[in-house]
Amino acid sequence: MPENVFARIKQENQLFKDETVLYPDFLPERLWERDQEVQEIAFALKPASTGGKPRNVFVYGPPGTGKTATIRFVLKQLQEYSGKAKTVLVNCFETNSRHSVLSFLANAFGAIVPKRGVGSEETYSELLSVWKRSKIVPIIVLDEADQLLSSEEGSKLLYDLLRVSELQGTRTGVIIVSNDSELLVNLDERVKSSLSPQSLFFEKYSPVQLKIILEERTKKAFFSNVLEKEVIPLAAGHAARMGGDCRVGIECLLAAGREAEKQNSSQLTPKHLQLVFDSVDKVSLEKRLNYLNAAETGVLQAIARHNGLTTGDLFVFFQDETEKSLGERMFRAIISKLEQMRLIEAKSLAEGIKGKTRRLTLLVNKEKVLKLKGV
Ligand SMILES: Nc1ncnc2c1ncn2[C@@H]1O[C@H](COP(=O)(O)OP(=O)(O)O)[C@@H](O)[C@H]1O
Ligand SMILES: [Mg+2]
Repeated sequence: MPENVFARIKQENQLFKDETVLYPDFLPERLWERDQEVQEIAFALKPASTGGKPRNVFVYGPPGTGKTATIRFVLKQLQEYSGKAKTVLVNCFETNSRHSVLSFLANAFGAIVPKRGVGSEETYSELLSVWKRSKIVPIIVLDEADQLLSSEEGSKLLYDLLRVSELQGTRTGVIIVSNDSELLVNLDERVKSSLSPQSLFFEKYSPVQLKIILEERTKKAFFSNVLEKEVIPLAAGHAARMGGDCRVGIECLLAAGREAEKQNSSQLTPKHLQLVFDSVDKVSLEKRLNYLNAAETGVLQAIARHNGLTTGDLFVFFQDETEKSLGERMFRAIISKLEQMRLIEAKSLAEGIKGKTRRLTLLVNKEKVLKLKGV
């Protein structure tokens, strides 16, 4: 019998104490540098702990700033503290229609609805009766709500959730999470007024904050003294350049740790990190494409089609091609958002008569961009 392939991997140097603590769904025991935000959300939900009506919250900010993790942390604490509320987090990127969210909620709150052949209205009324019977305060988090809530259906779903309190006195709380500060602007007035949420902005992390967070997060993941001392600052600097995105930092450290183990190295060094930067960046940038709204997607697609144009020229093309009236100010605001998200690069040319001109180039895969649903 040949030796088992796994037994054949000679690994004298084990660097990970527990790599699962660096996985995307791992919830850390603390959210470093987010005390204020934890406090704000807890304060909004506090009434639910005694059966009262929580405040609705709108949480927004760039990717990787700890929005989901912070909310999950507070929900867990609330659940441990009081049995009066029940919290459910829905990822609306995956569960992306009114019907699928209602079914997801019905299941999560213990309603018995068959998987197939049940209409939305029936599912909704099942959900209502479960809430009525159980007398709990349901707290619903609509995470990654960008796409769902920019559709008519999304607005309707929100209305479903909000009017429960008028219909039968169930005191629901809704937390909406998005990358887009403007997400709620176009909602129906009726929905907007019954939502009237408290807004909470998650700012991108500074290099110093990222350093602190990554240091803490790696303590449990790696054995002590296996990280060379330049590793954390390098990973933090990289995550900061990628828009203050903590996810990038954590993913780089996981990938680099695996690379170092594969090479049977006794230390994780900056070299291992350098090796994984490109592939981690690529994945995380492409993921960001999914969060763009229609106008942003349209502008990005124009850049993909006309790589290397200046902002002014591109604006002319864009107007011609889309026949959509997007004012120049809005257009420029979108350009700077895309630049901040590192999806494009804007290189300044020499100063000309018309002031500063900048040449725009795409930093992500062109085919992927053109495949998106744009304007
Ligand atoms: N303050 C923090 N302390 C510890 N880990 C954090 C912190 N902020 C973010 N993370 C981690 O970084 C990753 C991205 O955070 P996440 O909450 O998913 O970001 P967002 O929802 O804003 O895109 C997750 O693995 C999360 O656990
Ligand atoms: Mg998130």
